[in-house]
Amino acid sequence: MEVIIRPGPEQTAQLAALFIAHEIKQHSKLVLGLATGRTMERIYAILVNMHKNDGLDFSKCYSFNLDEYIGLPTENKNSYRSYMNYHLFHHININMINTHVPNGMAKDLKAEAKNYEKQIQKLGGIDLQLLGIGETGHIGFNEPLSALMSRTRDKSLTPRTRKQNAEMFGGDPNKVPTRALTMGVGTILEARSILLIALGKSKASILAKAIEGPITSMISASALQLHSSCKILVDETAASNLSGRKYYDWVFQNEPEYAHYR
Ligand code: GLP
Repeated sequence: MEVIIRPGPEQTAQLAALFIAHEIKQHSKLVLGLATGRTMERIYAILVNMHKNDGLDFSKCYSFNLDEYIGLPTENKNSYRSYMNYHLFHHININMINTHVPNGMAKDLKAEAKNYEKQIQKLGGIDLQLLGIGETGHIGFNEPLSALMSRTRDKSLTPRTRKQNAEMFGGDPNKVPTRALTMGVGTILEARSILLIALGKSKASILAKAIEGPITSMISASALQLHSSCKILVDETAASNLSGRKYYDWVFQNEPEYAHYR
């Protein structure tokens, strides 16, 4: 794992977009694992700009989103399918047929979850997985006590997560759905590489626990310590509780892999 700290949210999002663009250019076919949330909005906006101004080509990309609320029709503006269309898909040249978001309206959620995993396998697995982090330490919607080997399934959301996401539902946590379909921690760990982005003071405490604390199912993001190719990209405020900060900066300044990005 490497932790890269940038001064502010814009610089952090910019670097995340550069990493993603690099992967897109390297692969003739790229399977992206995509995330939602406010953090990703900045990154998607930069990717859209790169497509419009620099010709970044998404035509050979496939995508699988991490999660979807259960019970929200896709046309609801708060569904993650709507989010993805609005912030990314409708502004780039990805083939919509190649974009996948779990169907939170499926009658048989277990079958939907199983089929989602099958589709990921059929395309050869996820090459690059983007992640945010929730205040409960969730990745996707893997709330505390999610098994570290869990697969795509339906999951109840904690009151804290519903409160965190209430802003998009007119500020009322009771309007946030109670359940979601989410890739499991085990599904996420199978991605070939992972990029987690965290911005802002509200993430500082949970981020330090996830990166520097013990691996525990109480904090799903701590499972990323097991992954062999994982970058954590954060701004100053999100990094403020990290104790190994000096070393992380040293690695970023000295790893040849980052020469182009410094
Ligand atoms: C939701 C998503 C997570 C995401 C989190 C962070 O809960 N299910 O995948 O990481 O939001 O959201 P934000 O970026 O708005 O802080």
